[in-house]
Amino acid sequence: MTIYNVASAQMMHSLGVWFASVLKPNCVVSFFGDLAAGKTTFIKGMAESLGVDPNTVNSPTFQYLNIYQGPYQDSPSIFHFDLYRLENSEDFLAMGFEELFCRGGITCIEWAERIGAILPKNCIHVSIAHTENGQRQVKIEPLEIVS
Ligand SMILES: Nc1ncnc2c1ncn2[C@@H]1O[C@H](COP(=O)(O)OP(=O)(O)OP(=O)(O)O)[C@@H](O)[C@H]1O
Ligand SMILES: [Mg+2]
Repeated sequence: MTIYNVASAQMMHSLGVWFASVLKPNCVVSFFGDLAAGKTTFIKGMAESLGVDPNTVNSPTFQYLNIYQGPYQDSPSIFHFDLYRLENSEDFLAMGFEELFCRGGITCIEWAERIGAILPKNCIHVSIAHTENGQRQVKIEPLEIVS
């Protein structure tokens, strides 16, 4: 496990840029953290790292999934879920979303606790917490996958 103290939204973005650069296709990344913790900010950095315009990245609030395609034919797709409004993991399975975990892309799941029971065993957890001074603490586990 690694813990980062992240002082600004810009630093959160940069952490996402670095993080994505060490991922492999078919990685699933689950995000935990309250409203406005900084999950989407981190994912925008990941998108930039993978060649996607971060301005096109938004929490897909009124649908569960956004898909972003990188610039090259063999660039991994980014499957960006926001499950805030999902009732339970049965609904996720019923929509066939689980199949996307192994389509050669990078999957990012905001509000991953909604499907905690069916997250893949090798999923990387990114937990973001507000700190008293208005900054954020980011915990990434397990360390060995991203080092
Ligand atoms: N380390 C940080 N320090 C201070 N502000 C930050 C930090 N990281 C992100 N922010 C700011 O927090 C706000 C919310 O960020 P963001 O939309 O990424 O949160 P979120 O976790 O995706 O929220 P939601 O659950 O609503 O989707 C934004 O204004 C962003 O700029
Ligand atoms: Mg968000």
